[in-house]
Amino acid sequence: MLNTRRAFIKKSILAATALSVTPLPSCVTIGTIQANIPMRSTRVERALVLWYSQTGHTRRCGMVLAKTLAQQGVRVETSDIRGFQKETLVDFDLLVIGSPVFYYDTPGYVQTVIKSWPDLKGIPVASYVTFGGPEGNQDNANYTILQLLSEKNGVPVASNSFRSLSSFPLAWAGGKVDEKTWNARHLPDETSFQSVRDYAVHIMAQIKENQPELFVKKLTLREFSTIFAPEWWTKQLVKNHSIIQKNCVQCGACSEKCPVNAIDPAQYHVDTAACVLCFGCINTCEYQAVHMEYSKKTMIGFKQFLEQHNLKLYLPPELST
Ligand SMILES: Cc1cc2nc3c(=O)[nH]c(=O)nc-3n(C[C@H](O)[C@H](O)[C@H](O)COP(=O)(O)O)c2cc1C
Ligand code: SF4
Ligand code: SF4
Repeated sequence: MLNTRRAFIKKSILAATALSVTPLPSCVTIGTIQANIPMRSTRVERALVLWYSQTGHTRRCGMVLAKTLAQQGVRVETSDIRGFQKETLVDFDLLVIGSPVFYYDTPGYVQTVIKSWPDLKGIPVASYVTFGGPEGNQDNANYTILQLLSEKNGVPVASNSFRSLSSFPLAWAGGKVDEKTWNARHLPDETSFQSVRDYAVHIMAQIKENQPELFVKKLTLREFSTIFAPEWWTKQLVKNHSIIQKNCVQCGACSEKCPVNAIDPAQYHVDTAACVLCFGCINTCEYQAVHMEYSKKTMIGFKQFLEQHNLKLYLPPELST
């Protein structure tokens, strides 16, 4: 364990040194994806929109996308990626996968789920991500999803990114809200959702015209920084992650969100070694029962942050009835 830690720190120092002395060629292509096999069909009768979402941005975008596909005469099913039976994936003519960006990439959990899927046999696939920062490495996060899907013989046709009010609690830790986060407090708004609707139409056009695209991964500064394991470093900053027994009503919302089963509310226990610091628990708990500290100050989750600043998330017309 100690050796692993030393090796990691050494790797980080070497990478930091390299970063400080080498100008980063931000337009360098470090990967490309093209379909492995032809598209199964250019007709879309049944589509599936799956998402992973912790604070709701990705889910709302997915629902608007699904409703737009339905308006085009497609029979659409939607689901959280967790509850979906992978054996039925091949019954669909189109798969759309949505995910938030976590730590400059697609969350490990989403990657693991896609890796477990069966052969997709030429089904057209599209991705979208929601992201908080203007430099969130969102394009490469989309690339990760499409790459994994193409390894399963999905045929990538499109990708897109939609900015949101960040759900990353360090962005408002200690009572000071990060400026970029605050500037995005109205997002996604009606313009964002219009982009989602336009994206659904674009996906359909791509398939109709049998247009598998070439997708490219660029060496961005954020991409480079992922070799420093940002999740690991963030974990060093967050202390005393635990459940406050007197506040906990054992509703189970935190353990339901946790991608690594690190929470056992019945025992008021958090397995901090297993935790991947996705903040799903603190962002979801409505009873302020998930405790975390940053710089010796108690952190608050997304729901409490919204309440504290009187922020309301915009609901597009198709979701407000
Ligand atoms: C653990 C964590 C890490 C994040 N990392 C990034 C990031 O690297 N880049 C970014 O643009 N946004 C980042 N965000 C913000 C989320 O991607 C963004 O708010 C997203 O829309 C949340 O989607 P959801 O509401 O569907 O969970 C992060 C949020 C969390 C909780
Ligand atoms: S979400 Fe909060 S109240 Fe519900 S079980 Fe988890 S810690 Fe307890
Ligand atoms: S325990 Fe860790 S991994 Fe699980 S929801 Fe909370 S922050 Fe995420």
